[in-house]
Amino acid sequence: MRRLSLILALLLSQPALAQAPAQAPAEDDRRSDEHSYAQPDKVRIANLGLDLAVDFADRQLEGHATLGLEWVDEAARELVLDTRDLAIERIEGRNGSRKWRELEFALAEEDERFGSKLTITLPRQYEQVRIHYATSPDASGLQWLAPSMTSGGRTPFMFSQSQAIHARSWVPLQDTPSVRFTYTARIRTPADVMALMSADNDPQAERDGDYTFTMPQAIPSYLMAIAAGDLVFKPISERAGVWAEPQVIDRAVKEFEDTERMIQVTESLYGPYRWGRYDLLILPPSFPFGGMENPRLSFITPTVIVGDKSLVSLIAHELAHSWSGNLVTNATWKDMWLNEGFTSYVENRIVEELFGKARADMEYTISRNGLREELKEVPEAQQVLMLPARAGSDPEEALGAVAYDKGAWFLQFLEQRFGRENFDAFLRAWFDQHAFQSATSEQFLAFLESELMVKQPEAVTREEVMAWMTAPGIPEFAPRIDSPRFAAVDAARASWLESREAARDLPTAEWTTQEWVYFLEGMPESLEPAQMVELDQAFRFTGTSNGELAQRWYPLSERSQYFEARPAMSLFLRKIGRRKLIMPTYEALVASEEGLAFATQVYEMSKAGYHPITRGSVESVLAKARDAADAGTQ
Ligand code: BES
Ligand code: ZN
Repeated sequence: MRRLSLILALLLSQPALAQAPAQAPAEDDRRSDEHSYAQPDKVRIANLGLDLAVDFADRQLEGHATLGLEWVDEAARELVLDTRDLAIERIEGRNGSRKWRELEFALAEEDERFGSKLTITLPRQYEQVRIHYATSPDASGLQWLAPSMTSGGRTPFMFSQSQAIHARSWVPLQDTPSVRFTYTARIRTPADVMALMSADNDPQAERDGDYTFTMPQAIPSYLMAIAAGDLVFKPISERAGVWAEPQVIDRAVKEFEDTERMIQVTESLYGPYRWGRYDLLILPPSFPFGGMENPRLSFITPTVIVGDKSLVSLIAHELAHSWSGNLVTNATWKDMWLNEGFTSYVENRIVEELFGKARADMEYTISRNGLREELKEVPEAQQVLMLPARAGSDPEEALGAVAYDKGAWFLQFLEQRFGRENFDAFLRAWFDQHAFQSATSEQFLAFLESELMVKQPEAVTREEVMAWMTAPGIPEFAPRIDSPRFAAVDAARASWLESREAARDLPTAEWTTQEWVYFLEGMPESLEPAQMVELDQAFRFTGTSNGELAQRWYPLSERSQYFEARPAMSLFLRKIGRRKLIMPTYEALVASEEGLAFATQVYEMSKAGYHPITRGSVESVLAKARDAADAGTQ
């Protein structure tokens, strides 16, 4: 059925293609979003009013969404929205405060990647449309946790993850980063549950199961966010604080106590923080990402709370999105480097200001090594910052080191060529002049040209800039990093590998997470089991509470057939749902038949606690390995 509808869609789109102007302006091209059914050139959502009940028993949100519309095309009589797995009960429209009129609508058959196009037919251009609906218990953008999956163990928990195109699974809307809207919400929960949104959370709000929110700054759909559970608040400063389960709150406040300083550093570089409060919400360990920059309330994995602040660059990253991403937003996911590359660059600047250049350099080195590894696997067409339109592609495929680390590397290159002072002023102007707007790579290039290149024509050539933007790989003229602290780690590792020193005698006393990560990443593909035993006795990697180390140690254990690590590995995989941390271990396990069986068994035990996004990733690795095994036995 699905295949049939795809072919139909292709056939139907042919005449439209033929009628399109032969040479559509390039700018328009990069502004059109192939991941959304919405037609923002006809009508745009200007504001959204949500009224939803959080039903933990049925694992659904139920209520209505009221869309305030801004009509762009006078002739338009249709409102096309993105939805996924929504049960739509009825839709009505009205002007001003007149009577609601029932409207006709058609919900198209579901496309696996993009959900169901919802077409609402209007007799005239109503100012408001209201959709009564409920979400599915399997909504791709929500996770529902039984009390047993929380720290407290007594209260259920739910949270959203809308980026890139999952907002449509809990709100019917124009799910494209090129449309911005303000919102208000009334959320009802059981009385003992606290609800929060990417909006004006009041630290003093009375916990009574009935909450209202206002988000007066216009945001794109992927920044819509909600969470509910046993959440308490503690301040870090006047405008910053932490929401978390009571069992976690004190450790979190301690770990993230530098957040206010981070805000101040970023403000001094790139202008005022424009969102009012900046709070962190610490999620349960099943949160599938490290962090998510939901405005005013970044969502954060608890796996970065390791006790020594060594992983707080994650906070710098999510905070940085308050400028790069939330303020100036990629117009489509093809230009995701404008969000993630800029943010990774700003993150590193914050880390440098707060913790010094040596740490910032170590962090760049680790991520660039990861980028180099990834470039070995990624097709050349996807190694560019300015991704070409790929009709039908899943935007999450663009979620890789290229947008993040090649993007940040490009900006560091520009900074070095134009000089830090000039480049800082340039970035600040970029944020100021595009605030609350979406932008394309072309706009960035034009701005770079007019603001920097014409003023310092000697600094870079157009060819160099285009090599970063549109050529695969890393240009050979990219700046290099020289890290004395990592040189010391290389020396220690070599000394141990060549049996010149025992593991316990290595000079590791001052090492931080970054040195340990680099130490492990530089190991050969596999070690002798006896070597693994020696490392483990000296450094206690097996069972480590530092997920960044577990992420490297367990795959190495598996490749080295160090099966003593299996029980702790299994606990790690069951407890943590953060994709980046656990996927390398699943990938190492499935390399052998017996490992695949073990991984399958662990997954069966873990999946009830995994987010739909994590389930999808693990299932795809397991399925691929099974297919390969089957092909081998035929
Ligand atoms: N916005 C991203 C997370 C994201 C990107 C979710 C694309 C869905 C689609 C967030 O800011 C992010 O980059 N998180 C990283 C951490 C960061 C320090 C690299 C993560 O979760 O690993
Ligand atoms: Zn990010």
